[in-house]
Amino acid sequence: MAPLDPPRRLLMGSGPSNAETRVLQALAAAPLAFDDPAFEVMLEELSERARQVMQAPRARAALAVPGASRAGLEAALASAIEPGERVLVGVYGHFGELLCTLAARHGAVVERVDAEWGTPVSPEDMARRVRQLRPKLAAIVHADTSTGIVQPLEALGAACRDTGTLLLADTVLSLGGCEVAIDAWHVDAAVGGLQKCLGGPPGLALLTLSSRFVAAVTERRTLPRTAYLDLARLVHTWQTPLARTEISTPMLMAAHEALGMVLGEGLEERWARHERASLALRRGLEGMGLSRFGDAEHSVPMITLVRVPEGVDEGGVRAQLLAEHGIEIMAAFGPLRGRVWRIGTMGTNAALPSVLAVLGGLEAVLASRGVALRRGAAVDAARAASG
Ligand SMILES: Cc1ncc(COP(=O)(O)O)c(C=O)c1O
Repeated sequence: MAPLDPPRRLLMGSGPSNAETRVLQALAAAPLAFDDPAFEVMLEELSERARQVMQAPRARAALAVPGASRAGLEAALASAIEPGERVLVGVYGHFGELLCTLAARHGAVVERVDAEWGTPVSPEDMARRVRQLRPKLAAIVHADTSTGIVQPLEALGAACRDTGTLLLADTVLSLGGCEVAIDAWHVDAAVGGLQKCLGGPPGLALLTLSSRFVAAVTERRTLPRTAYLDLARLVHTWQTPLARTEISTPMLMAAHEALGMVLGEGLEERWARHERASLALRRGLEGMGLSRFGDAEHSVPMITLVRVPEGVDEGGVRAQLLAEHGIEIMAAFGPLRGRVWRIGTMGTNAALPSVLAVLGGLEAVLASRGVALRRGAAVDAARAASG
Protein backbone atom coordinates (compact mmCIF):
# COMPACT_ATOMS: atom_id res chain seq x y z
CA MET A 1 0.00 0.00 0.00
CA ALA A 2 1.22 3.50 -0.81
CA PRO A 3 2.31 5.65 2.15
CA LEU A 4 -0.15 8.29 3.29
CA ASP A 5 0.55 11.46 1.35
CA PRO A 6 -1.84 14.20 2.46
CA PRO A 7 -1.97 17.35 0.30
CA ARG A 8 0.01 20.37 1.48
CA ARG A 9 -2.29 23.15 2.60
CA LEU A 10 -1.88 26.66 3.86
CA LEU A 11 -4.29 26.65 6.81
CA MET A 12 -5.66 30.19 7.05
CA GLY A 13 -8.95 29.24 8.66
CA SER A 14 -10.14 29.18 12.25
CA GLY A 15 -7.68 26.47 13.28
CA PRO A 16 -5.92 24.16 13.18
CA SER A 17 -3.22 26.36 11.72
CA ASN A 18 -0.05 24.91 10.20
CA ALA A 19 2.17 23.38 12.87
CA GLU A 20 5.79 24.50 13.30
CA THR A 21 8.40 22.10 11.85
CA ARG A 22 10.17 21.88 15.22
CA VAL A 23 6.92 20.85 16.86
CA LEU A 24 6.27 18.18 14.22
CA GLN A 25 9.80 16.87 14.76
CA ALA A 26 9.12 16.62 18.51
CA LEU A 27 5.91 14.76 17.71
CA ALA A 28 7.92 12.25 15.69
CA ALA A 29 10.50 11.63 18.46
CA ALA A 30 10.62 8.14 19.94
CA PRO A 31 8.13 7.77 22.83
CA LEU A 32 9.55 7.45 26.37
CA ALA A 33 8.28 5.33 29.25
CA PHE A 34 6.10 7.22 31.73
CA ASP A 35 8.52 6.73 34.61
CA ASP A 36 11.69 7.53 32.65
CA PRO A 37 13.61 10.26 34.53
CA ALA A 38 13.99 12.16 31.24
CA PHE A 39 10.21 12.12 30.85
CA GLU A 40 9.85 13.45 34.40
CA VAL A 41 12.08 16.41 33.57
CA MET A 42 10.14 17.07 30.37
CA LEU A 43 6.81 17.13 32.24
CA GLU A 44 8.14 19.51 34.87
CA GLU A 45 9.43 21.83 32.15
CA LEU A 46 6.11 21.57 30.33
CA SER A 47 4.22 22.67 33.47
CA GLU A 48 6.60 25.55 33.99
CA ARG A 49 6.30 26.65 30.35
CA ALA A 50 2.49 26.51 30.52
CA ARG A 51 2.55 28.72 33.65
CA GLN A 52 4.75 31.23 31.84
CA VAL A 53 2.74 31.32 28.61
CA MET A 54 -0.53 31.66 30.56
CA GLN A 55 1.09 34.23 32.88
CA ALA A 56 -0.08 32.12 35.80
CA PRO A 57 2.97 31.84 38.10
CA ARG A 58 0.69 31.27 41.13
CA ALA A 59 -1.16 28.35 39.52
CA ARG A 60 -1.40 25.41 41.90
CA ALA A 61 -1.34 23.00 38.93
CA ALA A 62 -0.36 23.31 35.27
CA LEU A 63 -1.01 20.20 33.24
CA ALA A 64 -2.18 18.76 29.94
CA VAL A 65 -5.38 16.78 29.53
CA PRO A 66 -5.71 14.18 26.78
CA GLY A 67 -8.19 14.99 24.05
CA ALA A 68 -9.31 18.03 22.07
CA SER A 69 -9.33 21.43 23.77
CA ARG A 70 -12.96 20.90 24.68
CA ALA A 71 -11.90 17.90 26.75
CA GLY A 72 -10.06 20.45 28.93
CA LEU A 73 -13.18 22.61 29.15
CA GLU A 74 -15.34 19.60 29.98
CA ALA A 75 -12.83 18.39 32.58
CA ALA A 76 -12.91 21.77 34.34
CA LEU A 77 -16.71 22.06 34.32
CA ALA A 78 -17.44 18.43 35.17
CA SER A 79 -14.93 18.42 38.01
CA ALA A 80 -15.95 21.72 39.62
CA ILE A 81 -19.74 21.52 39.39
CA GLU A 82 -22.01 19.32 41.47
CA PRO A 83 -25.54 18.66 40.17
CA GLY A 84 -27.91 21.56 40.88
CA GLU A 85 -25.18 24.15 41.33
CA ARG A 86 -25.46 27.45 39.53
CA VAL A 87 -23.10 28.36 36.70
CA LEU A 88 -23.12 31.75 34.97
CA VAL A 89 -21.95 31.74 31.35
CA GLY A 90 -21.15 34.78 29.20
CA VAL A 91 -22.19 33.99 25.63
CA TYR A 92 -21.11 36.04 22.61
CA GLY A 93 -20.49 33.27 20.08
CA HIS A 94 -20.44 29.56 19.36
CA PHE A 95 -17.91 28.60 22.03
CA GLY A 96 -19.95 30.30 24.77
CA GLU A 97 -22.81 28.04 23.69
CA LEU A 98 -20.43 25.08 24.06
CA LEU A 99 -19.70 26.13 27.66
CA CYS A 100 -23.46 26.20 28.37
CA THR A 101 -23.93 22.74 26.83
CA LEU A 102 -21.06 21.23 28.80
CA ALA A 103 -22.15 22.80 32.10
CA ALA A 104 -25.77 21.66 31.62
CA ARG A 105 -24.63 18.14 30.72
CA HIS A 106 -22.86 17.93 34.08
CA GLY A 107 -25.94 18.96 36.01
CA ALA A 108 -25.44 22.72 36.40
CA VAL A 109 -28.29 25.19 36.56
CA VAL A 110 -27.06 27.45 33.76
CA GLU A 111 -27.70 31.20 33.78
CA ARG A 112 -26.53 33.27 30.83
CA VAL A 113 -25.49 36.80 29.97
CA ASP A 114 -25.77 37.15 26.19
CA ALA A 115 -24.30 39.59 23.70
CA GLU A 116 -25.07 39.93 20.04
CA TRP A 117 -22.52 38.08 17.85
CA GLY A 118 -19.85 40.59 16.86
CA THR A 119 -19.58 42.33 20.26
CA PRO A 120 -18.29 41.15 23.66
CA VAL A 121 -20.52 40.62 26.70
CA SER A 122 -20.80 43.79 28.76
CA PRO A 123 -18.12 43.30 31.44
CA GLU A 124 -20.20 45.37 33.90
CA ASP A 125 -23.35 43.26 33.34
CA MET A 126 -21.40 40.06 33.79
CA ALA A 127 -19.73 41.32 36.99
CA ARG A 128 -23.09 42.57 38.34
CA ARG A 129 -24.74 39.19 37.70
CA VAL A 130 -21.91 37.42 39.54
CA ARG A 131 -22.45 39.69 42.56
CA GLN A 132 -26.25 39.16 42.44
CA LEU A 133 -26.39 35.42 41.74
CA ARG A 134 -23.21 34.28 43.51
CA PRO A 135 -22.87 31.22 41.26
CA LYS A 136 -20.47 28.42 42.05
CA LEU A 137 -18.64 29.14 38.81
CA ALA A 138 -18.59 31.71 36.02
CA ALA A 139 -17.38 30.64 32.58
CA ILE A 140 -16.51 32.69 29.54
CA VAL A 141 -14.50 32.49 26.33
CA HIS A 142 -11.59 34.92 26.29
CA ALA A 143 -11.55 35.18 22.48
CA ASP A 144 -14.32 33.52 20.48
CA THR A 145 -13.20 32.09 17.14
CA SER A 146 -16.75 32.21 15.77
CA THR A 147 -16.91 36.01 16.00
CA GLY A 148 -13.27 37.17 16.26
CA ILE A 149 -14.07 39.15 19.39
CA VAL A 150 -12.04 39.40 22.61
CA GLN A 151 -13.74 39.57 25.99
CA PRO A 152 -12.22 41.85 28.69
CA LEU A 153 -11.89 39.79 31.88
CA GLU A 154 -10.66 42.23 34.57
CA ALA A 155 -14.05 43.29 36.02
CA LEU A 156 -15.40 39.74 35.93
CA GLY A 157 -12.27 38.42 37.61
CA ALA A 158 -12.56 40.99 40.40
CA ALA A 159 -16.25 40.13 40.98
CA CYS A 160 -15.44 36.41 41.09
CA ARG A 161 -12.60 36.98 43.55
CA ASP A 162 -14.85 39.11 45.83
CA THR A 163 -17.73 36.61 45.84
CA GLY A 164 -15.74 33.37 46.01
CA THR A 165 -16.98 32.36 42.54
CA LEU A 166 -14.65 30.17 40.49
CA LEU A 167 -13.76 31.69 37.11
CA LEU A 168 -13.16 29.48 34.07
CA ALA A 169 -11.74 31.07 30.89
CA ASP A 170 -11.43 29.43 27.48
CA THR A 171 -8.11 30.71 26.08
CA VAL A 172 -7.96 28.21 23.21
CA LEU A 173 -7.77 30.94 20.56
CA SER A 174 -6.03 33.69 22.50
CA LEU A 175 -3.08 31.81 23.99
CA GLY A 176 0.11 32.76 22.16
CA GLY A 177 -1.65 35.31 19.94
CA CYS A 178 -2.61 38.13 22.31
CA GLU A 179 -2.24 38.97 25.98
CA VAL A 180 -3.46 36.28 28.40
CA ALA A 181 -2.80 37.19 32.05
CA ILE A 182 -4.43 34.47 34.11
CA ASP A 183 -3.22 35.47 37.59
CA ALA A 184 -3.71 39.22 37.09
CA TRP A 185 -7.29 38.60 35.91
CA HIS A 186 -8.04 36.16 38.80
CA VAL A 187 -8.89 33.29 36.49
CA ASP A 188 -9.10 30.00 38.42
CA ALA A 189 -9.10 27.59 35.50
CA ALA A 190 -7.69 28.45 32.08
CA VAL A 191 -7.90 26.07 29.14
CA GLY A 192 -5.78 26.31 25.99
CA GLY A 193 -5.08 24.20 22.92
CA LEU A 194 -2.01 23.80 20.74
CA GLN A 195 -3.60 24.11 17.31
CA LYS A 196 -4.30 27.82 16.97
CA CYS A 197 -1.58 30.34 17.94
CA LEU A 198 0.83 27.91 19.65
CA GLY A 199 1.97 26.21 16.43
CA GLY A 200 1.08 22.64 17.37
CA PRO A 201 -1.34 19.94 16.26
CA PRO A 202 -4.87 19.52 17.71
CA GLY A 203 -5.44 16.85 20.35
CA LEU A 204 -4.21 18.10 23.72
CA ALA A 205 -5.65 20.63 26.19
CA LEU A 206 -3.42 22.75 28.44
CA LEU A 207 -4.78 23.78 31.83
CA THR A 208 -3.67 25.98 34.68
CA LEU A 209 -5.62 25.70 37.93
CA SER A 210 -5.59 27.99 40.97
CA SER A 211 -5.42 26.65 44.54
CA ARG A 212 -9.13 27.51 44.93
CA PHE A 213 -9.98 25.46 41.88
CA VAL A 214 -7.90 22.46 42.94
CA ALA A 215 -9.54 22.62 46.39
CA ALA A 216 -13.00 22.72 44.78
CA VAL A 217 -12.35 19.65 42.62
CA THR A 218 -10.76 17.62 45.41
CA GLU A 219 -13.16 18.53 48.22
CA ARG A 220 -16.51 18.06 46.45
CA ARG A 221 -19.26 15.99 48.11
CA THR A 222 -20.17 13.78 45.13
CA LEU A 223 -18.02 12.19 42.45
CA PRO A 224 -18.06 13.93 39.05
CA ARG A 225 -20.05 12.30 36.26
CA THR A 226 -16.84 11.50 34.40
CA ALA A 227 -13.98 9.32 35.55
CA TYR A 228 -11.64 9.95 32.61
CA LEU A 229 -11.92 13.75 32.82
CA ASP A 230 -11.99 13.97 36.63
CA LEU A 231 -9.45 16.73 37.31
CA ALA A 232 -8.77 15.62 40.88
CA ARG A 233 -7.61 12.34 39.39
CA LEU A 234 -5.76 13.96 36.46
CA VAL A 235 -3.82 16.31 38.77
CA HIS A 236 -2.83 13.29 40.86
CA THR A 237 -1.95 11.34 37.70
CA TRP A 238 0.31 14.14 36.48
CA GLN A 239 2.34 13.88 39.67
CA THR A 240 2.47 10.07 39.81
CA PRO A 241 4.75 8.37 37.22
CA LEU A 242 3.08 4.97 37.12
CA ALA A 243 -0.41 6.45 36.84
CA ARG A 244 0.34 8.41 33.68
CA THR A 245 -0.29 5.72 31.11
CA GLU A 246 -3.25 7.49 29.52
CA ILE A 247 -1.42 10.53 28.15
CA SER A 248 0.07 10.48 24.65
CA THR A 249 3.80 11.02 25.14
CA PRO A 250 4.35 12.36 21.57
CA MET A 251 1.63 14.98 22.16
CA LEU A 252 3.29 16.02 25.41
CA MET A 253 6.60 16.41 23.59
CA ALA A 254 4.86 18.51 20.94
CA ALA A 255 3.36 20.74 23.65
CA HIS A 256 6.73 21.08 25.34
CA GLU A 257 8.33 22.18 22.07
CA ALA A 258 5.46 24.52 21.06
CA LEU A 259 5.53 26.32 24.41
CA GLY A 260 9.32 26.50 24.25
CA MET A 261 9.11 28.19 20.84
CA VAL A 262 6.59 30.74 22.16
CA LEU A 263 8.83 31.61 25.10
CA GLY A 264 11.90 31.67 22.87
CA GLU A 265 10.23 34.27 20.66
CA GLY A 266 8.97 36.24 23.67
CA LEU A 267 5.31 36.74 24.57
CA GLU A 268 5.13 40.41 23.67
CA GLU A 269 7.04 39.94 20.43
CA ARG A 270 4.67 37.16 19.49
CA TRP A 271 1.54 39.21 20.23
CA ALA A 272 3.03 42.08 18.19
CA ARG A 273 3.68 39.70 15.27
CA HIS A 274 0.02 38.63 15.35
CA GLU A 275 -1.01 42.32 15.37
CA ARG A 276 1.19 43.10 12.36
CA ALA A 277 -0.11 40.12 10.39
CA SER A 278 -3.76 40.94 11.03
CA LEU A 279 -3.21 44.60 10.17
CA ALA A 280 -1.64 43.61 6.84
CA LEU A 281 -4.50 41.18 6.14
CA ARG A 282 -7.17 43.73 7.03
CA ARG A 283 -5.61 46.52 4.95
CA GLY A 284 -5.36 44.04 2.09
CA LEU A 285 -9.01 42.99 2.34
CA GLU A 286 -10.09 46.63 2.47
CA GLY A 287 -7.82 47.36 -0.49
CA MET A 288 -9.65 44.63 -2.40
CA GLY A 289 -12.94 46.34 -1.56
CA LEU A 290 -14.21 43.80 1.01
CA SER A 291 -15.64 44.85 4.38
CA ARG A 292 -15.14 43.35 7.80
CA PHE A 293 -17.70 42.02 10.27
CA GLY A 294 -17.82 42.83 14.00
CA ASP A 295 -16.84 45.48 16.51
CA ALA A 296 -13.36 46.53 15.33
CA GLU A 297 -12.45 47.87 18.78
CA HIS A 298 -12.76 44.39 20.30
CA SER A 299 -11.42 42.35 17.39
CA VAL A 300 -8.64 39.83 18.02
CA PRO A 301 -5.49 39.82 15.88
CA MET A 302 -5.59 36.12 15.02
CA ILE A 303 -8.85 35.85 13.10
CA THR A 304 -10.57 38.26 10.74
CA LEU A 305 -14.21 38.02 9.71
CA VAL A 306 -14.96 39.40 6.28
CA ARG A 307 -18.36 39.82 4.66
CA VAL A 308 -19.14 37.69 1.60
CA PRO A 309 -19.99 40.12 -1.24
CA GLU A 310 -23.64 40.15 -2.34
CA GLY A 311 -24.50 37.30 -4.70
CA VAL A 312 -21.21 35.41 -4.22
CA ASP A 313 -21.30 31.66 -3.48
CA GLU A 314 -19.59 31.51 -0.06
CA GLY A 315 -18.80 27.78 -0.13
CA GLY A 316 -17.87 27.81 -3.82
CA VAL A 317 -15.17 30.41 -3.23
CA ARG A 318 -13.67 28.44 -0.35
CA ALA A 319 -13.69 25.22 -2.36
CA GLN A 320 -12.01 26.91 -5.34
CA LEU A 321 -9.39 28.57 -3.11
CA LEU A 322 -8.55 25.16 -1.65
CA ALA A 323 -8.52 23.32 -4.99
CA GLU A 324 -6.56 25.89 -7.01
CA HIS A 325 -4.34 27.54 -4.39
CA GLY A 326 -4.17 24.93 -1.61
CA ILE A 327 -5.38 27.58 0.86
CA GLU A 328 -8.04 26.98 3.48
CA ILE A 329 -10.28 29.72 4.86
CA MET A 330 -13.34 28.95 6.96
CA ALA A 331 -17.09 29.30 6.85
CA ALA A 332 -18.94 30.80 9.81
CA PHE A 333 -21.34 29.31 12.34
CA GLY A 334 -24.88 30.06 13.44
CA PRO A 335 -26.27 33.48 12.52
CA LEU A 336 -23.16 34.27 10.42
CA ARG A 337 -23.30 31.13 8.27
CA GLY A 338 -23.11 31.99 4.55
CA ARG A 339 -22.56 35.70 5.32
CA VAL A 340 -18.88 35.84 6.33
CA TRP A 341 -15.57 34.10 5.81
CA ARG A 342 -13.16 33.64 8.70
CA ILE A 343 -9.48 34.09 7.86
CA GLY A 344 -6.91 33.14 10.48
CA THR A 345 -3.44 34.56 11.02
CA MET A 346 -2.30 32.21 13.76
CA GLY A 347 1.06 30.93 14.95
CA THR A 348 3.46 30.37 12.07
CA ASN A 349 0.92 31.89 9.64
CA ALA A 350 0.91 35.25 11.45
CA ALA A 351 3.41 36.32 8.81
CA LEU A 352 3.43 38.40 5.64
CA PRO A 353 4.05 35.53 3.16
CA SER A 354 0.94 33.69 4.38
CA VAL A 355 -1.09 36.90 4.34
CA LEU A 356 -0.02 37.76 0.79
CA ALA A 357 -0.77 34.21 -0.36
CA VAL A 358 -4.33 34.27 0.96
CA LEU A 359 -4.99 37.78 -0.39
CA GLY A 360 -3.62 36.90 -3.82
CA GLY A 361 -5.56 33.64 -3.94
CA LEU A 362 -8.84 35.17 -2.79
CA GLU A 363 -8.52 38.00 -5.28
CA ALA A 364 -7.90 35.58 -8.16
CA VAL A 365 -10.86 33.38 -7.16
CA LEU A 366 -13.25 36.31 -6.77
CA ALA A 367 -12.10 37.84 -10.06
CA SER A 368 -12.64 34.51 -11.85
CA ARG A 369 -16.23 34.64 -10.62
CA GLY A 370 -16.81 38.10 -12.06
CA VAL A 371 -16.66 40.02 -8.77
CA ALA A 372 -15.62 43.61 -9.51
CA LEU A 373 -12.56 44.43 -7.41
CA ARG A 374 -9.40 46.48 -7.55
CA ARG A 375 -6.85 43.99 -8.94
CA GLY A 376 -3.46 44.10 -7.22
CA ALA A 377 -4.61 46.57 -4.56
CA ALA A 378 -4.85 43.95 -1.79
CA VAL A 379 -1.26 42.77 -1.96
CA ASP A 380 0.00 46.35 -2.31
CA ALA A 381 -2.01 47.52 0.72
CA ALA A 382 -0.84 44.57 2.83
CA ARG A 383 2.80 45.15 1.91
CA ALA A 384 2.47 48.86 2.68
CA ALA A 385 0.86 48.11 6.08
CA SER A 386 3.65 45.77 7.03
CA GLY A 387 6.20 48.55 6.56
C1 LIG B 1 -12.39 29.50 21.37
C2 LIG B 1 -12.43 28.02 21.20
N1 LIG B 1 -12.71 27.24 22.25
C3 LIG B 1 -12.74 25.90 22.16
C4 LIG B 1 -12.51 25.27 20.96
C5 LIG B 1 -12.60 23.78 20.89
O1 LIG B 1 -11.39 23.23 20.49
P1 LIG B 1 -11.31 21.68 20.06
O2 LIG B 1 -11.97 21.62 18.72
O3 LIG B 1 -9.86 21.37 20.03
O4 LIG B 1 -12.06 20.93 21.08
C6 LIG B 1 -12.21 26.04 19.83
C7 LIG B 1 -11.99 25.39 18.52
O5 LIG B 1 -12.10 25.97 17.48
C8 LIG B 1 -12.17 27.44 19.96
O6 LIG B 1 -11.90 28.21 18.90
